Amino acid sequence: MSEVRVGLLGLGTIGTGVARILIEQQALISRRLGRKVVLVAAADRDLARDRGLDLSAVRLSDDANDIVRADDIDLVVELIGGYEPARTFVATALEHGKHVVTANKALIAKHGEELFPLAAEKGLAVGFEAAVGGGIPCLKALREGCAANAIESVYGILNGTCNFILTKMENEGADYAEVLKEAQALGYAEADPTFDVEGIDTAHKLSILAAMAFGAKIRFDEVFTEGISRITPSDIASARELGYRIKLLGIAKPHGDQVEMRVHPTLVPHSSQMANVSDSYNAVMVSGDFVEHTLYFGRGAGERPTASAVVADIMDIARVHPHGVEHLPAPMGFVESERREMATMPVADISCEYYVRLMVRDEPGVIAAVTSILADQRISLEAIIQKERHATNSVPVVMLTHETREGNLQAAIARITALESVEDNALILRKEQFAA
Ligand code: NDP
Ligand code: HSE
Repeated sequence: MSEVRVGLLGLGTIGTGVARILIEQQALISRRLGRKVVLVAAADRDLARDRGLDLSAVRLSDDANDIVRADDIDLVVELIGGYEPARTFVATALEHGKHVVTANKALIAKHGEELFPLAAEKGLAVGFEAAVGGGIPCLKALREGCAANAIESVYGILNGTCNFILTKMENEGADYAEVLKEAQALGYAEADPTFDVEGIDTAHKLSILAAMAFGAKIRFDEVFTEGISRITPSDIASARELGYRIKLLGIAKPHGDQVEMRVHPTLVPHSSQMANVSDSYNAVMVSGDFVEHTLYFGRGAGERPTASAVVADIMDIARVHPHGVEHLPAPMGFVESERREMATMPVADISCEYYVRLMVRDEPGVIAAVTSILADQRISLEAIIQKERHATNSVPVVMLTHETREGNLQAAIARITALESVEDNALILRKEQFAA
């Protein structure tokens, strides 16, 4: 069989890893496929930087257009990141008859719905396993391994940078800003790290998972999203005292014609498997009506694990090229005509248990006023803890609620923070219990 010729856009962290695998593992890949995959060309704005690789056999360019339009390339790997110009390069590659593999979750979450039909029209494949869960083959597991099931829920620790930060804050008392710098140096963070810490990257990934799980269209813009930037060491300590760890979770569940999609820091029981996913590891828990609970775990970021997932996609496409991408599973796990527009459930309608941290003036009657408002909204408390006095006159009060509707909780918090004795900086964290 003829070889499959690859062109690479972006020789940054992941692009370098992909080039490394295609060069160093070429013999292994050929043995697995029965054909050769060859890195023919690569483009990056900066070609002078040393990648620690012998790229002498690779045609290098500082213009991505040289690759997406080249006649001698069968498959383009997009690893420059972001919405634009990545979208334009990918669309141009498809228009020029090239399969595409990408690790760009922002691109798939925002523009997947225009790129999949374009690829289908041209008889081409789009692979994006590395876009969710780094090196974990979780999309393949959801799309193929769980295909016999109606999916009931997806929970994920989906951002390596945030998990790394939260782990170091808890285990080493490390400073948030310092650990973020470390995550950047290790190549985990996005070009703009606010995408990581404000939950946007997790929302990109969750929107892809939810659409794939429930046969829905991708609706990234509607994911309820909160990040970890307001979590303090004192919240981590309070959670630990109560038997929980704080993890940034993405959660998706179907409710009839609606989908619940939310990303936020979450209290997870110390004894659960999710609580014990640390550092840059990710985990995705998929539950189906027949299979019950399944859990996928591995490195969620970094050069080598992510490149591993990218190359697996290249190999899947290489197996069928140039004949029959119709023999590949549909990219989103459902045939296109069966994918539905599903409305996103308003966050006010979700129900869960909550951790609420208030800063209140240390004076008589405050707690009574707070609990009376909660009672008005029919919210019952599991625990209330008043912490030690701070340098200012305010003290933190931490409350755990029983299950309640978010709309009721938000209404109560709005009234509570309007009290003169309560600061307007309440922190609300949601709690989740797990089967395992
Ligand atoms: P990097 O920033 O390390 O690499 C991107 C590279 O592309 C840089 O060298 C950049 O150059 C280059 N580039 C940017 N724009 C252009 C352009 N117009 N033409 C040519 N080259 C360009 O990012 P990563 O490798 O970390 O990420 C790549 C993709 O993989 C992103 O979509 C990211 O979200 C995704 N991803 C990353 C993971 C990780 O752990 N890092 C894990 C999973 C997915 P310059 O430096 O000059 O901007
Ligand atoms: N910035 C992302 C993370 C890369 O930290 O998880 C992997 O998608």
